[in-house]
Amino acid sequence: SRTPVNVTVTGAAGQIGYALLFRIASGHLLGPDTPVRLRLLEIPQAVKAAEGTAMELDDCAFPLLAGIDIFDNPTDGFAGANVALLVGARPRTKGMERGDLLAANGGIFKPQGEAINAGAADDIKVLVVGNPANTNALIAQRHAPDVPAERFTAMTRLDHNRALTQLAKKAGVAVTDIAKLTIWGNHSATQYPDIFHARIAGKNAADVVDDRTWLADTFIPTVAKRGAAIIEARGASSAASAANAAIDHVHTWVNGTADGDWTSMGVVSDGSYGVPEGLISSFPVVCKDGAWEIVQGLDVNEFSRARIDASVQELAEERDAVRELGLI
Ligand code: NAI
Repeated sequence: SRTPVNVTVTGAAGQIGYALLFRIASGHLLGPDTPVRLRLLEIPQAVKAAEGTAMELDDCAFPLLAGIDIFDNPTDGFAGANVALLVGARPRTKGMERGDLLAANGGIFKPQGEAINAGAADDIKVLVVGNPANTNALIAQRHAPDVPAERFTAMTRLDHNRALTQLAKKAGVAVTDIAKLTIWGNHSATQYPDIFHARIAGKNAADVVDDRTWLADTFIPTVAKRGAAIIEARGASSAASAANAAIDHVHTWVNGTADGDWTSMGVVSDGSYGVPEGLISSFPVVCKDGAWEIVQGLDVNEFSRARIDASVQELAEERDAVRELGLI
């Protein structure tokens, strides 16, 4: 049998953690042949709740679950981690300014980046889910100078999956008929879901849909504001679909994108498509052999350009704000 992979999950006692851990332990993150050892990282006040979740994980008798350890500090939590899912974050509360939010999260993601740098395994792969995900990923990455920058990613796969279903419904096709959809920019309301390069059963998706009004006034805002719509409907945030997207993100990163398709990931920009180098922005990426690459050479029309630029501008502002706070 294979050596277990160490998977660290922060915010393990939270809503997403509860939806995520059972799927990791049942083999959906890394596949049916890979045993996992879970390392749950929580703040001290939530360790007891994490212990309760660990009891339930034990009670599932998952064949692939090789062990569960619970930690209240990042140094121990990330020691030996092969995969790290950074879910725990400081949510925005009423009256909180953006600067306060960024500062509070800097206090979480800076020490976590340092701990990853100090003690994670050489093959560490990091996915940041906790919001503001792109900028939290940037902070962690900047405090892990010995880890290749491309190992730090931010989650836009939930946005990608949301866009897939909205497009499939509009076109009257199955999600499996759609390829090459892209989320560009920030995981925020400025994100840009792009169907101009998407294919529906081999045809250009924008041509198949042929409805700019729907694109601008329905599709884009529906995808971008979906999180708020779910809170409004459920009275709670989108935890299960977020957990599902985290599973998809890592699974695709490890196992690769299908031939003729790509996915969306927040990754460190190399300057492609006018996105300033170093920002963690969502791009179309192809994954192969455990590595990602930004898809190159796509034509960006005027409609897309303006929207990509607006979201990237927001990312640059967030970066400048955390720089001013001394967090990077
Ligand atoms: P939650 O509030 O239910 O759980 C968060 C957990 O993180 C809590 O148990 C808390 O104790 C823990 N935590 C806080 N600081 C920590 C630290 N320094 N170390 C370890 N754990 C810590 O929140 P939920 O619903 O699970 O969401 C988690 C995050 O994911 C939020 O920031 C949310 O905005 C974000 N999110 C991101 C999405 C994306 O698409 N990128 C989608 C949905 C949610």
